[in-house]
Amino acid sequence: MKNINELLRPQVKGLRAYHVDEPDVPVKLHANENPYNLSEEIRRFISNEVSALDFNRYPDPECEDLRQLLAERIGVKKEQLVLGNGSDELIQMIIMAFGGQGFPVVFPTPTFSMYKNIAFSLGEEVMPLPLDESFELEPTSILEKIRCGPSITFISYPNNPTGNCFSREVIEEIIAQSKGIVVVDEAYFDYSRKTLLDKLATSPNLIILRTLSKIGFASLRLGVLVGSTEVADLLNRVRLPYNITSMSRIAALSSLKFDKEINEGIERIIEERAKLYRSLKALGFASPFKTDANFILFRVNDSEELFNYLIEKGVLIRNLNSAGPLENCMRVTVGTQDENTIFLQEMKNFKQKP
Ligand SMILES: Cc1ncc(COP(=O)(O)O)c(C=O)c1O
Repeated sequence: MKNINELLRPQVKGLRAYHVDEPDVPVKLHANENPYNLSEEIRRFISNEVSALDFNRYPDPECEDLRQLLAERIGVKKEQLVLGNGSDELIQMIIMAFGGQGFPVVFPTPTFSMYKNIAFSLGEEVMPLPLDESFELEPTSILEKIRCGPSITFISYPNNPTGNCFSREVIEEIIAQSKGIVVVDEAYFDYSRKTLLDKLATSPNLIILRTLSKIGFASLRLGVLVGSTEVADLLNRVRLPYNITSMSRIAALSSLKFDKEINEGIERIIEERAKLYRSLKALGFASPFKTDANFILFRVNDSEELFNYLIEKGVLIRNLNSAGPLENCMRVTVGTQDENTIFLQEMKNFKQKP
């Protein structure tokens, strides 16, 4: 037998496994998670519901009840929804269904890494288009690329990791002029409250992605795709059967009833985000960028040194340092008030260290 590596699909040879370096520290502000766990009361309620499951049976293949509930919350028909094992799986389904035509998967850069990784692993050509110096879309280069043929364009709105929502006007132009699918990934919608959902009715090539991961349910892995009923039907051709486990379905159905608690958590994060932004700016050595998400990108002189210092002090944030627009940039997720205070205190200590 030859080296087993040689048997790999050529595109996969160059890939590395998704790996999150997650040291065991008390303050974790690196993954854009919601810092609040569900209350004891809700968790007990979910346990009861889960314990009533038929564990020996396959899950509901269509997730009818959960799609119905989510559709009502979003204000669309359940036939327009496809659920995924996180929006990562939905990104994969979109590329599986609409790729393979010799046109690239287009996305601005820097952005969420999975557009590129998934496109690449499915053998697609990728076309990262650099954002300008204020992290805005460069309309001319994008429009030129997407007019050539049925490419798939991914736009993270707000953009991870920069935190800003790109100009709506430019996105509308992209949707109107694209010959292919345009995906507006609204993973952080609950923090931005900005959406392109209203364009769905008149834009058959538009897909909106949402997720439950950022509002307190990252463990469930539930991504929500909204498109026309036609797009949803087509995507169901590549969806694996039973892709949503019964446990995720039941836990989401049960906990989404507790709107008040979920919304209070989101409001607290939005308030804390403004405080964290001001405090970062006031430090004098960190330059934060404006954000619409539950995280803040900021630049320092030496992000490697700061990252190592914070880890030593028990605070994990994301070091995004690489040559180019993210040089010496770091991303901090808005945590609880206590977590943010600890992070800011360590930032001050770093500044004052001899
Ligand atoms: C823009 C964006 N889209 C999608 C995701 C993934 O979401 P999910 O947990 O639903 O797979 C993330 C996660 O960080 C993200 O930043």
